[in-house]
Amino acid sequence: MDSARLIDHIESRYHHAHRRALPELIALSRKVEAVHRDHPKVPAGLAVVLQRMEEELESHMIEEEKHLFPAMRQQASQALDAPILNLRHQHDDHGALLRQVETLTEEFSPPEGACNSWRALYVGTAQLAEDLMQHIHLENNILFPRFAATEHVA
Ligand SMILES: [Fe+2]
Ligand SMILES: [Fe+2]
Repeated sequence: MDSARLIDHIESRYHHAHRRALPELIALSRKVEAVHRDHPKVPAGLAVVLQRMEEELESHMIEEEKHLFPAMRQQASQALDAPILNLRHQHDDHGALLRQVETLTEEFSPPEGACNSWRALYVGTAQLAEDLMQHIHLENNILFPRFAATEHVA
């Protein structure tokens, strides 16, 4: 896939999916945390982690959409090393937040007898995790290496 089409795919498939999923998951996690606050398995703090992820992802995706991707579309391969390295570091931060989500949800496993909202929350966060990992993989390992002069060792 050429880079312009790959960028279109990343934006329409992944950036769009995160923007749609996160507000719903934040609202749902607030509800589950409130209703089940006395349950020993309640994912206490999940809404805060998801909100932080939404904020960090939003500014990250805007940086890609407004600066990096347009430069890539114009084949301006020089001078992209620094912004690419910066965005890679932000991907690492997203990964750290994702691990917090995995821990809080016990790897997206609702407890026995969990209500429909709780189950939907974990199905949704598992989907978010899968999308985000694929998204980061496509950028880190497929797209970014085409534009960085120096080889990046993960
Ligand atoms: Fe992206
Ligand atoms: Fe990214």
